[in-house]
Amino acid sequence: MRRAKISIIGAGNTGAACAVWAASKELGDIVLIDIADGVAKGKALDLYQSAPIERFDCNIQGGSDYSLIEGSEIVVITAGIPRKPGMSRDDLIKTNMGIVSSVAEKVAQFAPEAVIIVLSNPLDAMVYTAWKASGFPAHRVLGQAGCLDVARFRAFLSMELGCSVEDIQALLLGGHGDDMVPLPRFTSVHGIPIDQLLSKEKIDACVQRAKVGGGEIVQLMGTSAYYAPASGVIQMAEAIIKDKKRILPCAAYCEQEYNVAPGAKGDGYFVGVPCVLGKGGMEKIVEAKLDASESALLAESVQHVKDLVAVVKKLAAEKNEQGAVMFPKLV
Ligand code: NAI
Ligand code: 2OP
Repeated sequence: MRRAKISIIGAGNTGAACAVWAASKELGDIVLIDIADGVAKGKALDLYQSAPIERFDCNIQGGSDYSLIEGSEIVVITAGIPRKPGMSRDDLIKTNMGIVSSVAEKVAQFAPEAVIIVLSNPLDAMVYTAWKASGFPAHRVLGQAGCLDVARFRAFLSMELGCSVEDIQALLLGGHGDDMVPLPRFTSVHGIPIDQLLSKEKIDACVQRAKVGGGEIVQLMGTSAYYAPASGVIQMAEAIIKDKKRILPCAAYCEQEYNVAPGAKGDGYFVGVPCVLGKGGMEKIVEAKLDASESALLAESVQHVKDLVAVVKKLAAEKNEQGAVMFPKLV
């Protein structure tokens, strides 16, 4: 049987961690692409040299030549700059929209049947950028944020409860910003509602820590997290490659779903929602019935995503010295 192929654009901290998790799960052959040709080649070779010890059978290649990604089922976009202490994810928009749009065009050229998973920040706006620049149908463009954010929420709850993370189920919606929406009413421990096991104060503290979980790591390390974000990417990639129909929280294209942009008619937004993932990418969005306060929190988070996309469109419409629109596909 032909092995699946997973290509990762951007061989920095998150890209390399994606390659490690993918290899450890023997998900398929792996390609690492970076403008820094030697870095991508070197990390690919280094990782491959761990195969005899770790006992995985995957080809791992690296470089700057996009022909390597031909035939990929999944292309992960991590290319871009990460934030430094004091920066928000939104501060990255101008630099990363240029990088992500040029990468997405290359993906469309060399891997036209792939499912794209975007990681670059600000996430929800960069998924929109990759969608427009690639010209792919919306169900084949996804963003990773929710798998990470919900994993953080579950990790903090498990620290409080002293029980296995495996037994904690949680739901989290919205954009990948500090206004993301963890939902305690949909959170349970082996089926037992979380509010039967923890006080409101403790639950609220876990919610708040999850919301600013990215910033906590940036403060500690001076740069963004990478093990858990990459783990989230590979959780999504595995569900797609194995056609598992898993329900995972992903940044997915929404119009009427969760009332994100009713009536948008093809110009909706990518927002974190629970999705069924299978061979074709995003197969279905699963809707939970929210109460008024949950809906209000989600609407606030969605508005932030809309504001970021408006910034992308505004920057894209700017003209260069020759008077040409900078990014016509994104306007
Ligand atoms: P990094 O700086 O370690 O790696 C980025 C890599 O992208 C570098 O190796 C760089 O050479 C490469 N690159 C830059 N321009 C490129 C281009 N045009 N083509 C190919 N490669 C290019 O950064 P890190 O930590 O891997 O973060 C990458 C992005 O992911 C950042 O925007 C960061 O904010 C975001 N991120 C998102 C998370 C999420 O959950 N959505 C979590 C963690 C990081
Ligand atoms: C994170 O949440 C910075 O988006 C990155 O860790």
